[in-house]
Amino acid sequence: MKVCVVGMGYVGSVAAACLKESGHEVIGVDLDRLKLKSPPYEPGLVSLLRTIPLYHPSEIEGPLGEVILVCVGTPTRSDGSVDLTQVWSSIQWVKSLQSEGVVVVKSTVPPGTGEEISKRLLLDTGLNYVSNPEFLREGRAIYDWFHPDRIIVGAKSPEPVKVLENLYSGIKTPWIVTDITSAETIKYAANAFLATKVSFINEVAAICDKVNASIDEVRKGLSLDPRIGSDFLRPGLGYGGSCFPKDIRALDHLFPSDLLRAVITVNNRQRALPVQSLKSTFGSLYGVTVSILGLSFKPETDDIREAPSIDIIRLLLSEGATVRAFDPRASMVAREVLPRSVTVGSDLLGCISNSQATVIVTEWPEIVGADWPEIYKRMGSPRFLFDGRNCLDPCKMVEIGFCYHGVGRSGRDIYQRSSRFPWESPGRHLSEQGSQSSRL
Ligand code: UGA
Repeated sequence: MKVCVVGMGYVGSVAAACLKESGHEVIGVDLDRLKLKSPPYEPGLVSLLRTIPLYHPSEIEGPLGEVILVCVGTPTRSDGSVDLTQVWSSIQWVKSLQSEGVVVVKSTVPPGTGEEISKRLLLDTGLNYVSNPEFLREGRAIYDWFHPDRIIVGAKSPEPVKVLENLYSGIKTPWIVTDITSAETIKYAANAFLATKVSFINEVAAICDKVNASIDEVRKGLSLDPRIGSDFLRPGLGYGGSCFPKDIRALDHLFPSDLLRAVITVNNRQRALPVQSLKSTFGSLYGVTVSILGLSFKPETDDIREAPSIDIIRLLLSEGATVRAFDPRASMVAREVLPRSVTVGSDLLGCISNSQATVIVTEWPEIVGADWPEIYKRMGSPRFLFDGRNCLDPCKMVEIGFCYHGVGRSGRDIYQRSSRFPWESPGRHLSEQGSQSSRL
């Protein structure tokens, strides 16, 4: 099939690359010439994109194809509302070039948008509007494209659905064919539910810290209930990225929700945790050197949009700390947005050398699998370690000698308990704890 992808950002680039890989004839279009030159970082994407012709809209005069995928940005305004300018103008542009075909909107748009566009723009044309939300995860997008959990299609008639069946003919997964507004709502509800799970487990972690319980044990106990499951129950510094924060705020703006506001409050609170923990250890952070390990909002991406690292670094600087930062992939992008006083690099050992405190913000394999005894040797006293993703074995870290803190891991309680049982050496007691948590 002849396919045109409008918007070569993250979703558009992946869609174009994967549809080409499935045998379709694909072109990509973007107003931003920079996006045409350098695609977003995603494992496996660059080589797949190589053979796709990319155009600025001014270079195209004729019809675009049987299927037009609209994958343009839907940013939030400062009041939380969604700016749909790019979606409307893209569809207007498509309409100016052709009067037949299927317009598939993959951009995340508020419920009701598709109906309004169909009514106001497409009523007098042969163009069919379809809502087909995407559930790709950054870092795993190519895999997710070919192995989706479901395909959601919102349409007004069976004809465009048949066109999408051809478009996705190689992909075996359940289909939900529904009305346009329900399809749009599914996307928001899915992201809102996942973000709620993250804030829920972070709230439970806060309880664990208060009562000296172990979040690792509590999580294990929760996850074995199939009604709860284990996914998206990793406690830490909260969710970031270009999707969850934006979508949750937009949904709350459209339909004010006590639940979603609480999700946002908990998520914001998580970002302050390492700074609070540092302050309770050091008192003042003035002159304390803190190393931040991980800048991207999650591993396997260079995306730092709404990344906890950026807020944490700003907080640390405002407390007078000296900040150094490491990321295996996002250091260049982060350099652009971080104040000059922050040293940013991709050499982990160089970053932590002589720093008194280290905060893990992103659980990159390079960080989890680092040589921690060597890091201990190179850091300066008191070798404070805040594991913001609970990605290290706390007992091993305490055995190495770190002043270890996790999220809901009651790090200090490990010391307290060993002192309550003086006949157990701290090391032995800690190893027993370690074997419990490492089974997770
Ligand atoms: C998310 C959804 O997972 C995708 O299905 C959706 O298509 C996408 O948003 C979107 O709307 O476009 P993504 O933003 O790539 O994908 O990231 P996730 O892997 O979902 O992680 C989101 C955030 O939650 C990350 O900051 C991650 O660190 C955090 N998280 C995730 C936790 O803190 N704990 C968890 O247990 C899971």
